[in-house]
Amino acid sequence: MVAADLARRPARWLAPLAPVLEWRAFVPHRGACMPCVLDLRQRRLVTSGRMAIGLALQAMGVQPGGRVLIPAYHSASMVPPALHLGARAEFYRVGADAAVDLDDLAARLPGASAVMVTHYFGFPQSMAPIRTLCDLHGVPLLEDCAHSLFGSHGGRPLGAWGDYAAASTMKFLPSFDGGCIASAHHRLDSVRLRSAGLLFEAKAAYRALERSVEHGRLRVAALLLALPQRALQALWRWRKRGLPPAQQQVAPAASDNGFDYDPQWLDKRSAWFSRALLALSSRQDLCRRRRRNYLALEQAVHGLPGCRPLHAALPEHAVPWVFPLLVDDPEPVFERLQAAGVPLVRFGQPMGAAADACANARDLAQRVLGLPCHQALSARELDAIVSALRNILAGTPP
Ligand SMILES: Cc1ncc(COP(=O)(O)O)c(C=O)c1O
Repeated sequence: MVAADLARRPARWLAPLAPVLEWRAFVPHRGACMPCVLDLRQRRLVTSGRMAIGLALQAMGVQPGGRVLIPAYHSASMVPPALHLGARAEFYRVGADAAVDLDDLAARLPGASAVMVTHYFGFPQSMAPIRTLCDLHGVPLLEDCAHSLFGSHGGRPLGAWGDYAAASTMKFLPSFDGGCIASAHHRLDSVRLRSAGLLFEAKAAYRALERSVEHGRLRVAALLLALPQRALQALWRWRKRGLPPAQQQVAPAASDNGFDYDPQWLDKRSAWFSRALLALSSRQDLCRRRRRNYLALEQAVHGLPGCRPLHAALPEHAVPWVFPLLVDDPEPVFERLQAAGVPLVRFGQPMGAAADACANARDLAQRVLGLPCHQALSARELDAIVSALRNILAGTPP
C-alpha cells in the first residue's frame, strides 16, 4: 500500500465494502428466485473470476498469437488470462453508458479468437445483436458475469447468451474465494479440479469469519476464533520455513484484492467453506436486499448536484453488484467520501493500455464511483452512507 492510500484511509469505514457473514443469510426464503449463473447446465467452482476466464479461453481454443477482444472498460484482472495463453488483448470501445459499441466490435470481430462481454455492475448488456455478430463471424463469446451472478435479459438467464460464462461468486457472497466457469451449451469435461490443500481451506473459512467479526457481526465467533487463529498462525510459520517466496502463497492474489494472475490456481477447486456458503445462503433474500438497497441509494442521490446514477433505472431482472454513481468532478468527491468512511469501488482503474483506446472508458473509469448495495448492509450503515453522500455532494449537514 502506498503512503497516499494510507493517508486517505479513514479511522473507521461506515460499512463493509463487500458482503460479510451473518446468520440471517441462511434463513430460507420462499418465492421465485432470479436465474443464476450457477444454475447453467455445466459449471465448475474455481477460486476466482479470472481463473474462470482463463479456463473459458482455454476451452474456446485460444492459441498463441490469437486476438482476444476485451472491452476497453475493464478490470486489470481480465487481461492476464488472455496474455497467459500467448494471445493478444485487443480493446473494443464502449458507449458513454458502458454499452458495447456494436460498430467497433463488428469491425474487430473478423479473425478474432474470442470476445469477452461484461455486464457492468449487474446491468445486462443488450445481448441479442452481440450474439448475432459473434455467430456471423464464428467467434466464441465469453459472457463475463463477474458483476452479474444473477439476472436475465431478453428472456434468457445471464451467462446463457455466451458459449461460456465466467462469474466471481466472491463478489456476491461473503466468501474469501470464489469463481465459476459455466456453460449452457458446452460440456466442461476438460476442466478437472482438485483441492488447494488444507491450509487454503482453513484460511478461507477463517478469513470469512474474521472479516465478519471486523465489521461487528458474529461476535460469538470472535471468541471461538481466538484459538484457531493462533493454531493457524503457528502452523503457517512452521510450513513456510525454508520455502522460496513463490511457494509460500496459501491463497490466490484474487482473494487479497490483487489483480495478479497466478496460473497455478487454474486447476484448484473453490474452498469447501465458500462452496458451502453458496449452497446454504438464501438467494431470494440476497437478490431482494441488493435490489432494495440499490433503490434506496437511487432515491437518496436523486436531485443531488454534480452526480447521477449511471443508469436511469434498475431493470426488473437485474441484481446489482454495486451502485454506480456518475460524478462530474470525481476526485474531490472521492477523497471526501473516503475520508468520511464511505467504502467505494473504482472499477476500471488502473486503465493501462486501454486508456488510449476509448474516451468513454477513460471517462467511466474516472467518474464512476461504486457504492456498496450488498445484502449485508444494515439500515444504519445505509443511512450513514446516505447521510455522508448528502453532506458531501449537497453540503447538507448530516
Ligand atoms: C468485470 C470483471 N471481470 C472479471 C473480474 C475478475 O474477477 P476475480 O476478481 O474474481 O478474479 C473482475 C474483478 O474485479 C471484474 O470486475
